[in-house]
Amino acid sequence: MDYYYLLVITLLLLTCASKGALSARRCPDCGPTPVPYPLSTGPTCGDQLYKLRCNAGGSLLFDTLNNTYAVTSISREIQRLTIQPSPFLSNTCVTADISTQGIQLNSSLPFNITSSNTILYLNCTNLLLSSPLNCTSSSLCHTFINGTSGNATDGTAACGRNSEICCTFRAGGSSTSYSIRVRDAGCRAYRSFVNLDYSLPVSRWPQPGVELQWISPREPVCGTQSDCDSDSTCGPDPSSNSGVRRCFCNSGFHWDAIGGLCAQNVTCQDADGCGSNRTGLIAGLSTGLGAGLILAIIGFLLYKRHQRIKEAKERLAREREEILNSGGGKSAKNFTGKEIKKATNNFSRDRLLGAGGYGEVYKGILSDGTVVAIKCAKLGNTKGTDQVLNEVRILCQVNHKNLVGLLGCCVELEQPLMVYEYVPNGALLDHLQGLNRKQLSWTSRLDIAHTTAEGLAYLHSSAVPPIYHRDVKSSNILLDEKLNAKVSDFGLSRLAHTDLSHISTCAQGTIGYLDPEYYKNYQLTDKSDVYSFGVVLLELLTSQKAVDFNRPMDDVNLAVYVRRLVEEEKIMDAVDPILKEGATNLELDTMKALGFLAVGCLEEHRQNRPSMKEVAEEIEYIISIAKSKPAE
Ligand SMILES: *[C@@H]1O[C@H](CO)[C@@H](O)[C@H](O)[C@H]1NC(C)=O
Ligand SMILES: *[C@@H]1O[C@H](CO)[C@@H](O)[C@H](O)[C@H]1NC(C)=O
Ligand SMILES: *[C@@H]1O[C@H](CO)[C@@H](O)[C@H](O)[C@H]1NC(C)=O
Ligand SMILES: *[C@@H]1O[C@H](CO)[C@@H](O)[C@H](O)[C@H]1NC(C)=O
Ligand SMILES: *[C@@H]1O[C@H](CO)[C@@H](O)[C@H](O)[C@H]1NC(C)=O
Ligand SMILES: *[C@@H]1O[C@H](CO)[C@@H](O)[C@H](O)[C@H]1NC(C)=O
Ligand SMILES: *[C@@H]1O[C@H](CO)[C@@H](O)[C@H](O)[C@H]1NC(C)=O
Ligand SMILES: *[C@@H]1O[C@H](CO)[C@@H](O)[C@H](O)[C@H]1NC(C)=O
Repeated sequence: MDYYYLLVITLLLLTCASKGALSARRCPDCGPTPVPYPLSTGPTCGDQLYKLRCNAGGSLLFDTLNNTYAVTSISREIQRLTIQPSPFLSNTCVTADISTQGIQLNSSLPFNITSSNTILYLNCTNLLLSSPLNCTSSSLCHTFINGTSGNATDGTAACGRNSEICCTFRAGGSSTSYSIRVRDAGCRAYRSFVNLDYSLPVSRWPQPGVELQWISPREPVCGTQSDCDSDSTCGPDPSSNSGVRRCFCNSGFHWDAIGGLCAQNVTCQDADGCGSNRTGLIAGLSTGLGAGLILAIIGFLLYKRHQRIKEAKERLAREREEILNSGGGKSAKNFTGKEIKKATNNFSRDRLLGAGGYGEVYKGILSDGTVVAIKCAKLGNTKGTDQVLNEVRILCQVNHKNLVGLLGCCVELEQPLMVYEYVPNGALLDHLQGLNRKQLSWTSRLDIAHTTAEGLAYLHSSAVPPIYHRDVKSSNILLDEKLNAKVSDFGLSRLAHTDLSHISTCAQGTIGYLDPEYYKNYQLTDKSDVYSFGVVLLELLTSQKAVDFNRPMDDVNLAVYVRRLVEEEKIMDAVDPILKEGATNLELDTMKALGFLAVGCLEEHRQNRPSMKEVAEEIEYIISIAKSKPAE
C-alpha cells in the first residue's frame, strides 16, 4: 500500500514538473554523450560559466587551469561529473600532469572536487610523513601498490618497485576542493577513486577517476523577453549590479536548477492523494523510536554521572587528608574552597575566561583585590589520588619570572584548582594572528622566543623533579602589557586525561605541535617540548598558523611547509612579509638564523634536537647580533 501512495505522489510530481517548458537551452549531445544543462559546449547553449569542450572525435573534455582531462561520466541529477586522471609517464611513478602541478581548478568557476574521492599520493618525499595525511605502512595506497604491481601496462608497477612513501586521504576539505597537487618536492603521482569501498580487493576497485561537482546554476541570462520562454520573464538580476538580466520564472512556477527549467508548483488539493495520514504515521513512528533512544541515552548518562560524583566525593575525602599531612613546599599558598568560591563569585559564568583541553579558566578577585586566573584541571580517571596530589604539589612549587606565576592551589573542591597571576594582554597566538601583528617587531619576537625558551629550560633543568610542559604552543604563551612573555599551562597535561593518551592524539599535546616520535612510543620528553617550541619559533617567524587547512594539503602543517622551503633553499619565502619590509641585511640574516634553529628543533629524531637550554642560548646569541650596530 505504501508503495502505491509513493507511486501516486511520484507520478503527480512528474506530471507537474513536465508541464514546465524548457527555458534554458541545453547543448546538443557530444557524440553519444548527452550534455545536460548547465554544462556548455558552445556560446549559444548551456550556462557560459560551466564550459566543457566537445572535440571532433565526439568526446567531452574538461579544462583545468593548465591542463585538459577527458570526462568519463556525467550525473545530471546529482550535478556531478567524473574526469580521467592523468596517465603515468612511461615506466615511472610520475603522473604526466606533474609539469602543471597536477589538477588545479579555477576556484572562481562553479566546479569543485567532491569528498567522494579517495586520493592516493604516490612516490612522495619524506616531508609528507609529518603531514596530516595517512602515510603509514597500513595506508590504503600500499594496498593499491601491492595489488597492482606486476601489471606492467600501468605505471603503478613502477610505484611499487622501490618502497617509496605514499599517502591516502579523502578529498573535499577546503584545501583540496580545487586541487590535487603533484610536484617534485611533494608527491610525484596520484590516483583517485570515486566512492571506493575500502574492503574490496584491489582487483575489484573501480577505474580511477576524479569526481567534480557543479554548483546549482542560476536562471539563464537573457537580453530580451524573446530569449525566455512563456513560463519566465526577462528581468534585471537583483543580486548582480552589473546589469545582468535573467529569465525569472513566472508566478506559480519555480526555478528547477537540475532540469534547467521553470517547473510548475505542485499544490495538492486532493487530500487522499497527498497521504497526510501516512506521513504522520511514519513521522510518529520515527519520533517514537527516537524518543526511546534518547531516553535510554539520558538514563545512561545520568547513571554515569552519578557514579562519577560518588567517586569524586570519595577521592576528595582522601585528598583532604593527604594535603593536611603534607609538609612539602611552601612557595605557594593553599587556598580554601570557600576563598575560591568567593573569588570567582561561585564560578559564575561571566567569570569564565576560557575553556581548553585541560579544563576551564575563571577570572577571580581575591579578598585583597589581586586579580587572578583560576584553572580547574579536568581529571583523567585512571590516575591515583596520590599521584594527582603529588603532581599538584610539585606544580605549586615552581616559580620563575618567565612562567605565569602560580600563587597557590586548592584541593578542597572536587577538582584540584590552581591559582595563577593574571596576565592581561592575551596569548601570543592572538597577537600573531591579529590585525596589529605589526606591533610585534622582529626584536620583540626574538625577546618573546628567548623568554619562552628560558621558562621552558627552567622547567626542564631547574625544577625538581623536571617538568615537561607537554603542550607548548603559541596559545599557551601569554603576553603582558609590555609584551613580556610568560609560559602558562605547564605540566597541566599530566593531570589531565592520561587514560586516553594511548588512543587519542588530542589527549596529549596539540596537533601541529606534537613531536612525531610520540607516535612511536607514546612518550613525551623534554625533547618533545623542544619540537613544539620549534613550531612556535616558526609562528614567530612566519605569522602563520601551526595548522592551516587553507594551505595546500601537503603544506597544512607549518613545520612541514617550512621544512620543504628550507630543502628548496627558499627559507626567506616563509618569513612574514611585514618583518622583511625595510629590514636591514643584518636583521634578514638573523631571521634566517632563527629559521634554521627552528628546523633544528624540528629534527625527526629526538637525539638530534638541541636541549631547551641550548636553544635559549642560541636565541640569546641571535638577539645580540640583531641588536648590534652594523659594522661600517
Ligand atoms: C619518483 O619521482 C622521482 C622524481 O620525479 C623520479 O625520478 C622517480 O623515477 C620516481 N620513482 C619511480 C619509482 O618511478
Ligand atoms: C597555470 O596557469 C596559470 C594561468 O593560466 C599560470 O599563471 C601558472 O603559472 C600555471 N601553473 C603551472 C604550474 O603551469
Ligand atoms: C577563472 O575563471 C574566471 C571566471 O570565468 C575568469 O575570469 C578567470 O580569468 C579565470 N582564471 C584563470 C587563471 O584562468
Ligand atoms: C591509515 O589507514 C589505514 C587503512 O585505512 C588504517 O588502518 C590506519 O588506522 C590509518 N592510520 C592513521 C594514522 O590514520
Ligand atoms: C600483496 O599482494 C599479494 C597478492 O598479490 C598478497 O598475497 C599479499 O598478502 C599482499 N601483501 C600485502 C602486504 O598486502
Ligand atoms: C592491468 O591493467 C589493466 C589496465 O589498467 C587492467 O585492465 C587489468 O585488469 C590489470 N590487470 C591486473 C591483473 O590487475
Ligand atoms: C563544492 O560545491 C558544492 C556544491 O555547491 C558545495 O555544497 C560544497 O560545499 C563545495 N565544497 C567545498 C569544499 O567548497
Ligand atoms: C513555488 O515553489 C517555490 C519553491 O518550490 C516557492 O519558493 C514559491 O514561492 C512557490 N510559488 C508559488 C506561487 O506558490
